[in-house]
Amino acid sequence: MKLRIGVMGCGTAAHFHAAACRSSEKIKFVSAFDTNIENAKKLADIYSLTVSRDYHDILRSDEIDAVLITLPHYLHTEFTVAAAEAGKHILCEKPMAPTLEECDTMMRAVKKAVAVALMGYLSAKTGKIVTRSDFERVASTQGTRSIITGLEKATV
Ligand SMILES: NC(=O)c1ccc[n+]([C@@H]2O[C@H](COP(=O)([O-])OP(=O)(O)OC[C@H]3O[C@@H](n4cnc5c(N)ncnc54)[C@H](O)[C@@H]3O)[C@@H](O)[C@H]2O)c1
Repeated sequence: MKLRIGVMGCGTAAHFHAAACRSSEKIKFVSAFDTNIENAKKLADIYSLTVSRDYHDILRSDEIDAVLITLPHYLHTEFTVAAAEAGKHILCEKPMAPTLEECDTMMRAVKKAVAVALMGYLSAKTGKIVTRSDFERVASTQGTRSIITGLEKATV
């Protein structure tokens, strides 16, 4: 069974991830949410996704296992906490959040949840920072292929 992804934020980074995961046998991008509906439609058209007008629909859906959070930094905490509370696995793009307090909030939410959370740090240097964090099951990522591997691990 494929890990089914809902995308939150359909700009540049979302396209990178969608393109990289296109050939994965274990990951399927399903749904796109963005307040800029044109951005959501563009991603949806290219990758055959449905467009969600409300991100809560993604969080409530039994047909979505994980969310990709490719939103501006200041939204990472709000969406990560909501996704963790909904029991979704999470890949949140870097930087984790603008403040340490928000990072703590995110970590608390993930620890309480049954979800796997990954932060999308792409370099070895920043990866070290992430692995020192407190996530129960955190995985730092070393490039797009590793992001795919990380998401696939969430299916185990
Ligand atoms: N672009 C890159 O090369 C790159 C690389 C690595 C990491 N990142 C990270 O990815 C994240 C996204 O960056 P990006 O470059 O894709 O930005 P972007 O501006 O291209 O895309 C962000 C998207 O979020 C949408 N958005 C803004 N506010 C929203 C809201 N309240 N609800 C729903 N959607 C909203 C915008 O309409 C836009 O489509 C950032 O954290 C960034 O640091 C980007």
